Amino acid sequence: MNHAKWIAYFKRNKQNRPEPDWGAPMNIPPHVLAPMLRSVEQFRLGDGGGPASLIAYDRENFRSRSEEMRQIVDLWFAEEAEHARLLGGAVKRFNGRIITSHWSFTAFCLCRRVLGVRFELQVLTLTELVSTAYYRMLRAHSPDGPLAAMCALILRDESGHVAFQRDRIADIGCPRPGVRGWLWRLQFLICGYAAGTMLWINHAPCLKAIGGTRAEFYGEITRQITRFIRSLRRAAKPSGVPAMWAKPELQLQSAR
Ligand SMILES: [Fe+2]
Ligand SMILES: [Fe+2]
Repeated sequence: MNHAKWIAYFKRNKQNRPEPDWGAPMNIPPHVLAPMLRSVEQFRLGDGGGPASLIAYDRENFRSRSEEMRQIVDLWFAEEAEHARLLGGAVKRFNGRIITSHWSFTAFCLCRRVLGVRFELQVLTLTELVSTAYYRMLRAHSPDGPLAAMCALILRDESGHVAFQRDRIADIGCPRPGVRGWLWRLQFLICGYAAGTMLWINHAPCLKAIGGTRAEFYGEITRQITRFIRSLRRAAKPSGVPAMWAKPELQLQSAR
């Protein structure tokens, strides 16, 4: 894996980040604002508002592979913490509250902690894919300009995170050829729809209130997961360094 490329990418991505105009006038009907605020409050907790690090009991197995990998993981989670800061700006704008616990987040963290870093990395990859679907819908239907601008910033980062996960998974030779690869793809797809359904259960009131539909949501989920699996197949190279990452900017563009 080309560590230097990812360190350079994350450092470069800190630049040119215009802050959403949180003080802009706001005109959102109360029946839309209430579910939207609940959703953004929960997302702030889940997207970097909790522990902004790997938390699996054996996380050092992954982090300590090299000093560069440790740095990449820290840079990745620094962006997650930045998402929580941005979402906190939206919560403040809508006069919401900073929540520090929710049953779904507690269950999410417990699974990450006890099931090991390999499982945690897959869960985080799937979370980034289904979150991308959520932010794309929120941006498309947002009744608020600054909220849409926030979604655009977070989507820019998440496209980088998804590309990093693809690079990481391809680098370990996954999915393998033959039946094992087919089974891996199947479990990834099933887990992806499970993660998407958890998100839908918690955030459907918001997405419906702003004009989204269940069909649109699952269409986005399908698009994100299947595109990820397809690109993973293209990325897998026997050399261990996927050639497609030679120009990360181009790759990130296509992932958005
Ligand atoms: Fe995030
Ligand atoms: Fe992310």
